[in-house]
Amino acid sequence: MPAPFILVAPASRGIGLGLARHYLRTTSLPVYATHRARSPSSVKARILDAPHLDNVDKDRLRLLDSLELTDEASIKNVADKLAADLKERGGDDHAGCIHRAWFCAGILHPEKRFEDLDNGQILQTFKVNVVSHLLAMKHFSRFLPPRNSPSKEQAKWIHISARVGSVSDNKTLGGWPSYRCSKAALNQAIRTFDLNLKTKKLPAICAGIHPGTVHTDLDGGAFWHGPDPARGKFELPDAVERIARVVEELDEHQRGRVWDWKAEEVLP
Ligand SMILES: NC(=O)c1ccc[n+]([C@@H]2O[C@H](COP(=O)([O-])OP(=O)(O)OC[C@H]3O[C@@H](n4cnc5c(N)ncnc54)[C@H](OP(=O)(O)O)[C@@H]3O)[C@@H](O)[C@H]2O)c1
Repeated sequence: MPAPFILVAPASRGIGLGLARHYLRTTSLPVYATHRARSPSSVKARILDAPHLDNVDKDRLRLLDSLELTDEASIKNVADKLAADLKERGGDDHAGCIHRAWFCAGILHPEKRFEDLDNGQILQTFKVNVVSHLLAMKHFSRFLPPRNSPSKEQAKWIHISARVGSVSDNKTLGGWPSYRCSKAALNQAIRTFDLNLKTKKLPAICAGIHPGTVHTDLDGGAFWHGPDPARGKFELPDAVERIARVVEELDEHQRGRVWDWKAEEVLP
């Protein structure tokens, strides 16, 4: 049976970094992490520089080649490098398969008014927030467990989305048009990919997660006024624990949809 592993893409900062730490601490599985840094060793050191990771086997954290998500050749190259690493360690072409995969990439240009929209920024937002996720589906789905997998457990393939991608929830404030539209498109990609997994009868589900408002670099700190869990505002470790728990509990009936940090659905 192929050995399960965790994939976090990217894990250089923010929620992806927190997720890599979480799986190192709470599982014994290999954790493959992507980044686009010149020096993978600096990213590895950053991920490992956290409380409760002192006794973790550092070899479980495997940094892949630099991955620029706006470049399909880079995405394909990293998928090929992952296949080669799995083969080298496991000895055959089916030496490893995804147990949990998280696709975390996202950028935000926080336009307040439609007059603020910029063609280049809109395209960049869609490239990172939507196109890179579609291309990850194209190049990394080969690592999902095969249809005849002896394991009874479903793999979980997760994209970090956002509540603002919900059309039905967009009633009062509006704002952030390019980010908002990109997350709505991502949600459609999630739904479509999940249907594809179902049609192929693969032992895997795809879903989206809204993590709440999390203290990261996403907005440059502009909208952060301190944690307030009752209102969905979290420091990074707290947010990561919550969304990882939600994903562990996702079942067959919840596939193809978007869930928040309370395990409540973000309606389309
Ligand atoms: N933070 C929140 O409150 C919040 C709320 C709702 C949803 N989300 C979503 O959560 C996800 C993670 O956000 P975050 O808060 O962790 O943001 P973050 O701290 O800004 O991290 C963004 C990550 O994306 C990577 N990235 C961006 N553009 C890339 C590119 N072209 N190629 C490769 N990597 C690229 C960054 O890599 P580098 O380190 O190389 O720049 C970094 O690892 C996003 O999808 C975001 O929309 C966040």
